Amino acid sequence: MKPKILVAREVFPEVLERLRQHFEVDDNQADAVLGVEGLKARLAGKAGALTAATDPVTAEVIAAAPGLKAICNFAVGYNNIDLTACSKAGVMATNTPGVLDDTTADLAWALLMASARRLPAAERWLRNGEWKGWQFIQWLGSDVHHATLGILGMGRIGQTVARRALGFDMKVIYHKRTPLPAEREAECRATWVDKQTLLRESDFLVLLLPYSPENHHTIGAAELALMKPTAHLINVARGGIVDDEALISALRQRQLSGAGLDVYEGEPKFNPGFLELDNVALTPHIGSSSRATRMAMAMTAADNLIAALAGQRPPNLLNPDVLK
Ligand code: 8YV
Repeated sequence: MKPKILVAREVFPEVLERLRQHFEVDDNQADAVLGVEGLKARLAGKAGALTAATDPVTAEVIAAAPGLKAICNFAVGYNNIDLTACSKAGVMATNTPGVLDDTTADLAWALLMASARRLPAAERWLRNGEWKGWQFIQWLGSDVHHATLGILGMGRIGQTVARRALGFDMKVIYHKRTPLPAEREAECRATWVDKQTLLRESDFLVLLLPYSPENHHTIGAAELALMKPTAHLINVARGGIVDDEALISALRQRQLSGAGLDVYEGEPKFNPGFLELDNVALTPHIGSSSRATRMAMAMTAADNLIAALAGQRPPNLLNPDVLK
């Protein structure tokens, strides 16, 4: 008999087809967000699940599924999973590192350019029929070339963002707790600085930290006050890293020139203050959203689940202590 699994959100049919070769699959192609209660109900009797960052795999959810052996996120971020609860219950947890680096770095750059050149506001203005004629002094933006790119959190995606700066002749600085090895820094043409220097010197500051309670509001009013009034803040990492209320106030007072945001506190809820601003570019958490990348993420999660339920160590195991 095939083990029973849950696929908690809609995925491509090819992914279900692959999973059905190994498992009896309970899918959610209707894409209803299950939440804690829905997950508890649907995980009963299941050996594994493919989950998204929107699925709260809490201690309560884990406790309700005694037969569960593996939770495989189709996301690189895994702050939706209680890893401690997983380990205690003997549940392997996995994510999808690597396959979305380029696509997410591309979106960071799209938001950076959109914010620098004020694309959303200029487009709205044109669509509203407000363009009455070309003017020499009109919609002046910020130059990206030769500016200083700052990166907070220099993991795989941060390094991918940094490498793209070469074509813009930018100076690249970064901060992370442990500096990169010298050869990796050279490859990214990036220099380690302390966090204060990063905040003070960046013309474009891109956030690429994982979310954890320690990173909650890493960028708040005090940090925003250190930034240049001409600077732009880009967040493609996770809501909650930035204090959205403080950011709205900084953007409103032009204490910061602009922002490009893909993630928000309390998603999919949204601070309506952002909508009143003309100096912010907003996208709905689409960092990894190309067909090829979303397919690779789901297939990576499927690989992890197939390995885990075959009694092997899954390639992207997050809680190796579970195997002890
Ligand atoms: C996901 C992401 O698409 O991988 C992540 O951590 O934020 C996105 O790439 C999203 O979280 C849905 O799982």
